[in-house]
Amino acid sequence: MPMKALILSGGKGTRLRPLTYSGAKQLVPVANRPILFYCIDNLVSAGIKEIGIIISPETGEEIRAAVGNGKLWNAKITYILQDQPAGLAHAVKVARPFLKASPFVMYLGDNLIGRDIRQFVSDFTKKHSDALILLKEVDNPRQFGVAEVTRGGSIVRLIEKPENPPSNLALVGVYIFSPRIHKAIDRIQPSKRGELEITDAIQELILMGHKVKSFVLDSWWLDTGKKDDLLTANAIVLDEWGKKEIGGTVDKASKLLGRVKVGKNSVIKASTIRGPVVIGENTIIDHSFVGPHTSIGDDVRIINSSVEHSVIMNGSEVIDIERLEESLIGRRVRIFRNSGHKALRLMLGDDSVMEV
Ligand code: TTP
Repeated sequence: MPMKALILSGGKGTRLRPLTYSGAKQLVPVANRPILFYCIDNLVSAGIKEIGIIISPETGEEIRAAVGNGKLWNAKITYILQDQPAGLAHAVKVARPFLKASPFVMYLGDNLIGRDIRQFVSDFTKKHSDALILLKEVDNPRQFGVAEVTRGGSIVRLIEKPENPPSNLALVGVYIFSPRIHKAIDRIQPSKRGELEITDAIQELILMGHKVKSFVLDSWWLDTGKKDDLLTANAIVLDEWGKKEIGGTVDKASKLLGRVKVGKNSVIKASTIRGPVVIGENTIIDHSFVGPHTSIGDDVRIINSSVEHSVIMNGSEVIDIERLEESLIGRRVRIFRNSGHKALRLMLGDDSVMEV
């Protein structure tokens, strides 16, 4: 049976509030492309053409609109509604009619890894295992799901946020399963937090005597569910994959240094842009400095300001701001100076964060 893929793109996204009140976290842009697109790129480049995407009732329509039917990737996309975020193993259960008896890659839609998964996929086939778990060495294993692994790479145990980690190998959100996982999922109960956990299902597979192996990732990995990780992901992706490409207009008084991408109909006036930077379409940068590791979306206005190491999404404005750094700005946000007033005058949504 050809391998399929299941991308998990439901969930609550509480750690990225307020952005996730109005949109799916998997569509938050990294270098101006939704995180989810990088997951699809990776699956397709490993030769997987049949992809199921788990969506939630709240953000499913937005995900459908962004990804479409998969033509962009020459893949076949099936949307699968999970009516509530009842856990990663619950998502697999809901997807069973799509997955049938195929082996499949399960990919968390908010994870970004620095290389393709071809070798990971071929390793699964070679080793005839029932699960192959992608792991990554980390400095702070206490904050992750951690695997205890034998010398031969078999997984003995998985532990969520252990006090005494048995290794420094964290679970990346990418797994490959044989159809035996379904039986294991049928045998587990919801955890203390009320979710059907994929780690419990994998543990059950081991108990059932099936082969669960590991594969250690040799590139970077980021779980983009938090602000700082998202800014880091943005910086790394711009560093590694950013290109110089000028689609808009740059006047004589402006300087573009390094790899700067300017989208269609954008205008750069009397400004300095120091790459790697991406700027979307119909955006205006006027009398400003845009520093490295910044992604600016479509229809944005940056005027008389300085911005660096930030992500600014579509339709936002930054006007007369001396220095904006390490900031994650959502859509249609307005930031400007109120001349003459010492006081801050704010309108911030629920769960906003402001550091002054
Ligand atoms: P998490 O980031 O672990 O959970 P979450 O989306 O609820 O986020 P937060 O912790 O910030 O509240 O989920 C990992 C990925 O799996 C993410 O892309 C959402 C998705 N997911 C589902 O599709 N269904 C689920 O039941 C759960 C729990 C997560």
